[in-house]
Amino acid sequence: MHIAPSILSADFSRLGEQVRDACEAGARWIHIDVMDGHFVPNITFGPLVVAALRPIADHYTATLDTHLMISDPDRYIEDFANAGSDIITVHVEACTHLHRTVHAIRSYGKRVGVALNPATSLNTLEEILPDIDLALLMTVNPGFGGQQFIPASLNKVARLRQLLNDHNLGHIYIQVDGGVNLTTIGPLVRAGADVLVIGSALFNQKASIATNLAALTAASAD
Ligand code: DX5
Ligand code: ZN
Repeated sequence: MHIAPSILSADFSRLGEQVRDACEAGARWIHIDVMDGHFVPNITFGPLVVAALRPIADHYTATLDTHLMISDPDRYIEDFANAGSDIITVHVEACTHLHRTVHAIRSYGKRVGVALNPATSLNTLEEILPDIDLALLMTVNPGFGGQQFIPASLNKVARLRQLLNDHNLGHIYIQVDGGVNLTTIGPLVRAGADVLVIGSALFNQKASIATNLAALTAASAD
């Protein structure tokens, strides 16, 4: 089980410090939410931020996991690969030629993820599953941190876990993203999630990153 802090909820005025704090607290998987204001109704950051965080990731041997919530992601695969992404995840809803896009990511030596929005069927993954390293199930509608978890997501995670087991594809990570907190993390792990993306439950005014991360890790076993 990996907890992947989503920097979308971090304090951007001291982003490097917040990422270092997360790594000092034990995080080794940093989730970078790239949004273009077109595929989703928000604009965040681009390759420059990946490049800025790369030295910190190197220091802690952390993974930079780049979630592209952008239209026509083929345009930016090279930029995000060269900026230092370890994993590049694209949305199935944003790719006309998903097989070509997945293999373009691989051609840069990067691990590849495919993301599904809440209403997108698992069936859309069927043909591409053998080619990917990670399947990201959005458990909120993408665009913002701090949203309410969509309860139907639990069953979707369980069905994907079953699908992977049935096809001997257990090496593919199931990543969940959105509304993961002290209440939802345990059921999600039990349903089969491997990587839990967490933003507002980790970066907030209630407690330090270390305190929140320890509580979430403990709750993952609930
Ligand atoms: C939403 C992003 C998520 C978000 C998670 O579009 O993809 O990664 O930052 O934030 P929380 O954990 O606050 O729901
Ligand atoms: Zn994300």
